[in-house]
Amino acid sequence: MSFLELFKRPALIGAHRGFLSNRPENTLSALNQSIGHCDFIEVDVQLSREGIAVIIHDDTLERTTNVKQLKAYKTRIPYKVTDFTYAELSDLDYGSWFYINVKRPEPLLTLKKVLEFVKENQIYLNLEIKDLSDTFSDMQVVSSVLKEIEASDSKDFILLSSFRHEYMQLGKQIQPDLPTAALVEDKHPNPLIPYLKSIGVDAYHFNDALVDETTVKKLKEAGYYINIYTVNDFLRRQQLFDMGVNGVFTDYLE
Ligand code: G3P
Repeated sequence: MSFLELFKRPALIGAHRGFLSNRPENTLSALNQSIGHCDFIEVDVQLSREGIAVIIHDDTLERTTNVKQLKAYKTRIPYKVTDFTYAELSDLDYGSWFYINVKRPEPLLTLKKVLEFVKENQIYLNLEIKDLSDTFSDMQVVSSVLKEIEASDSKDFILLSSFRHEYMQLGKQIQPDLPTAALVEDKHPNPLIPYLKSIGVDAYHFNDALVDETTVKKLKEAGYYINIYTVNDFLRRQQLFDMGVNGVFTDYLE
């Protein structure tokens, strides 16, 4: 199997950052909660200071951890993920920020752990690689992620994506049978189809505001799979599926 096989099924539901309306985003608890309610899970991967792949969405730790409350890190503003070692990242609570007036700590989620989860649960995964080009070379980023996938033997479940399309090109060069998607927001590359061909992706991910029937039709005719983010309205989901969109990322699972 491969993620490309999953694309043959209609109306795919992707659990955005795990299941972020229900549990703290990008935590194991969010992933667990999404099982049985989605066709695939989407999480965000970046690297710790020494290059260990960790699952965090924002560039900084402020919003989704307790970093600001810990004296040890008070000189580390703006709390950039890639400035923190793996040991430091492991010291933080990724859960309690989500709840009102209760402490429910969640540990750091690593890519290694996510890939174990994927295999145990036989669930498909879209791994969004965050743009780390201000800190690491493209090769460092892509090879760190691919090594983990290789080591866990979970390739059959994975779709890689990124706003940094250089990562997708490199990924295809190193691992041609690993499906990839180009991710964009608010603006299509121009000309779209020749561009997607030039970077060798299998799928195209874009935001709902950018959707129009003509573009969807063109993409389908050219053989691209389409996932749209972030679609929380049930009727809108159906409209998109009727238009020919393969899948949506959503915060709300049924
Ligand atoms: O990967 C699709 C979607 O999740 C992109 O938006 O902001 O969650 O990275 P964001």
